[in-house]
This record gives sequence, structure tokens and C-alpha cells, in this order.
Amino acid sequence: EQIEKGGYDHFMLKEIYEQPRAILDTFRGRLRTNEAIIKMSGVEDNMKKFLNADRIIVVACGTSWHAGLVSEYIFEDLARIPVEVEYASEFRYRNPVITEKDLVIAISQSGETADTLAAIKLAKSKGAFVFGVCNVVGSSIARETDAGAYTHAGPEIGVASTKAFTTQITVLTLIALRLARAKGTISSSDYRHHLIELELIPSKVEKVLKSDDYVKTIANIYKDVKNFLYLGRGYNFPVALEGALKLKEISYIHAEGYPAAEMKHGPIALIDENMPIVVIATKKGHYDKVVSNIQEIKSRKGKIIGIVTEGDQQVKELADHVIEVPETLESLSPLVTTIPLQLLSYHIAVMLNKNVDQPRNLAKSVTVE
Ligand code: G6P
Repeated sequence: EQIEKGGYDHFMLKEIYEQPRAILDTFRGRLRTNEAIIKMSGVEDNMKKFLNADRIIVVACGTSWHAGLVSEYIFEDLARIPVEVEYASEFRYRNPVITEKDLVIAISQSGETADTLAAIKLAKSKGAFVFGVCNVVGSSIARETDAGAYTHAGPEIGVASTKAFTTQITVLTLIALRLARAKGTISSSDYRHHLIELELIPSKVEKVLKSDDYVKTIANIYKDVKNFLYLGRGYNFPVALEGALKLKEISYIHAEGYPAAEMKHGPIALIDENMPIVVIATKKGHYDKVVSNIQEIKSRKGKIIGIVTEGDQQVKELADHVIEVPETLESLSPLVTTIPLQLLSYHIAVMLNKNVDQPRNLAKSVTVE
């Protein structure tokens, strides 16, 4: 097992560090920046189905559901296709409205999650076209779907999902860009810009990983608190949810993710000097509005950990700590902002002596209801 961990203390840390390579493997051969094309056979072979779809319904569970939420922003923003993101467990029992004009995208790392599999079967029985985004080749979901695209993240052993999440977002971004180009909802210059920026993501993730020691010092300061709040807006709202989930899963500290602007409708009541709040406040994502949320937190003495764009000044002045991430397009920012949140939960769990790779009560893949 030590050999499999490749010198890392835990699989989770190894998998966090594998992300630059995993993301690269995910777009290798598919993202052809020089030719300005994206090629994914599962999409090309079924282009008519994609273009004729009235809407996309994403079904998934856990972290994969969070990747689905990120894709809602990408598909709607770039390809102008309405998207609904569903917990597979709710969708399957709700008697949902599904038609032949629906495109269902099922996201699953393992490809074995029982609820997601059942949601796929239901959607197929109603005539929808079902596309899978899976990591495990030949898995049940990969076989059950009409077509799909693998994430090529390599085996993920840590129960808390890391590289599966970022590679799922990568695949979904590629699909959204391909559709946006086919539909003409993106200009050719904007499209090219996206391809160039996407290609730079692995090196930017590499750069974020260099903040590991600093994240560790922050983990040491807050490891004994009972509650954490995570806030983000737009593309980074699902990242806030995912950051909170990671902390809950492996450190057993209660954490909530919230859209930053919703803070005033509830969570603000929780804020006092004992509450650390992770705020994703990168430059392009409604920056000024998030800064005013940070001011509200500060005036209530909450402890602010800001995830900011390199060179940021404003948040730096207000926050107790800032972790910088390289600048990228807003639509690609979840791929970099997620990384420090993974590291933060990892270090807290290690410091608390928790079983990072196999947290209590959780399973890597949930094959029963
Ligand atoms: C379990 C795992 C999570 C995962 C979820 C969905 O709860 O512990 O890490 O996100 O299942 O799994 P899937 O394999 O369908 O992505």
C-alpha cells in the first residue's frame, strides 16, 4: 500500500497532487487548441441528439452532483441550454417529467452508484437520450448509458473525491464548449480564448498546490472549531458546497456551503468570533458583491479565509488569511479554487487524527439504496 501511495501519507493527498496530470489526461487528444477544435467521439457521434435537446437534466450524487451544479453554469452560460441538476435519489422517485427531447447527463466517478443507475434506467424508459460521465471504464453506468465520455482521472482510492471532481468539470466544460461552438452561442474569439485558458489549467493547479504549506498553517489555526461556513457565488457557489462537503466527510466538523448572497437570509445569524468562513472571492465572479459580503462578516467578527486572485488587494485588507490562485476565466475558476479547499480539509483531518482515506460511515461507492 505504501508503494501505491507513491510517497504520500494518504491516497487523498496523492490524488489531490495528481490533479494537474489528471486534468491533462482528461483533455488529451480532445482539446486541440492549435486547430481550435474539441473532439469527443461520444459527443460527435450523437451531435444531433445534443443539438435537438430542449434541456439537459443532470443526475448524480455527492461530489458528482456538485460537478453537475458547476456544469449548469457552464452549459447555460456558454451553450444557452437550460439545465436542471438533480439528486438521482430524488429524481428517481419523483415521477419527474421526462421527454424524448431531454438530454440526461449522468455523472459518476465509480459508475456504480445505485441511485444514479436507477435514474438512468428511468430516463431511458421515457425515451430520453442518456450520456454518461464516468471515471471507471466498463462500469455499470458506462454500460447502461447510450453514450458517454470518460474522465480518465485514473483510480481514485480516497473516499473523499478530489481528482474525480476536477476531471468531471473538465469533461463537462469540453462538452459545453463543443456545443456552444456548434450552436453559435459563443464567438470564435471567446471560444479560442477558452481553449487556450483550459490548456493552461494544469499548470495553474500546479501553482495552487505550492500554497500547501500555507494552507497547513491555516488548518492548524482552525482545526478545533466546531463549525465552518463556505461561501461562493456563481460558478463558485458549487465549489463552496464541495469545500464544505470535503471538510464534513473527513474531519467530521460541521460545515455548510452557501451562496454568498443568501448569507443574509440565515447563516449570518451564526457569525461570531468563533466562526471561520471560507469565502471564494476571485476577481471576475461578482467580486464587488462578494467583497461587501466579506465586510458584513468582518463587522460581525467572523474569521475570514479568502480564496482570491493573485495580486488581490481589497480582500487581503479585510480577511484574516488569503490563499491566492492564478487568474483564469470565470467559467474555469472552479478548477483552481477547489484545490485549496481540498488541502484545507485534508490537513485539518490529519491534524485531528482522523482516518482520511476511509472516513467512518462512508463508502467509496454506494451500490445499494
Ligand atoms: C459516495 C462517495 C462520494 C461520491 C458519491 C457519488 O458518497 O463517498 O465521494 O461523490 O458516492 O459517487 P459516484 O461514484 O457516483 O460519483
